[in-house]
Amino acid sequence: GQARPLAGRRALVTSGPTHEPIDPVRYLANRSSGKQGHAIAGALARLGAATTLVTGPTVQVDPPGVRVQHVESARDMLAACQDALPVDIAVCAAAVADWRPSDCAPQKMKRGDAAELGLRLQPNPDILAALSAAGNQRPALVVGFAAETERVVEHAREKRARKGCDWIVANDVSVGTGTFGGDDNTVHLITDDATTPETWPRMTKQAVADTLAERIAERLGTAKGA
Ligand code: PMT
Repeated sequence: GQARPLAGRRALVTSGPTHEPIDPVRYLANRSSGKQGHAIAGALARLGAATTLVTGPTVQVDPPGVRVQHVESARDMLAACQDALPVDIAVCAAAVADWRPSDCAPQKMKRGDAAELGLRLQPNPDILAALSAAGNQRPALVVGFAAETERVVEHAREKRARKGCDWIVANDVSVGTGTFGGDDNTVHLITDDATTPETWPRMTKQAVADTLAERIAERLGTAKGA
């Protein structure tokens, strides 16, 4: 096909962890490095899409040719994603914290003498679900990820239905897989038009990104009869 099949399209990608503040110096986070999400943003941009990457804190270099918005918390990530609309393609690869501390202490918390400290949490907004339900702003193709540690495909299918996205990319994040933080990934692509999930061979996250971007380009080309 053409070298830049996504020219004229707009894409939004989320990447990295979120940081949920506990006090001015502490936060809740997770092991996401941003490697997978950043690679996807770069791959979509190389295929010609005008791409916005909304990323939590990572050490990754901003991908060339991509507009990058740096955020910390899930709520900031949601706001930055909503600001990026309308887009044709959304890919949510970020490991967004499902919960945040109910109260952020205004000053650094003191160790004190208590034998135990409780942390109260409340649910964060779900960015993938929000984009999937964005009404007339809904992207033509919404792709989620599913990070699972057991019954990977089954749980990912349920997640796709529950969150309302079109495709979901399932990956096993069990200890020892290196999926969080590593350079390689083994993924299963679950689409809306296929009953059988595709299991891709283990490959670099860069190769996962390139393959996914090609698939997205094929899909949008067909859908619009281009
Ligand atoms: O960053 P790396 O080190 O390269 O690792 C890559 C990865 C493992 C983080 C990535 O491949 C991946 O699986 N990303 C999704 C991680 C995740 O949080 O999955 P989940 O199954 O908890 O969430 C399902 C989907 O909902 C995801 O698309 C997630 O971005 C989205 N979500 C979840 C919660 C929330 N509050 N908002 C969301 O948008």
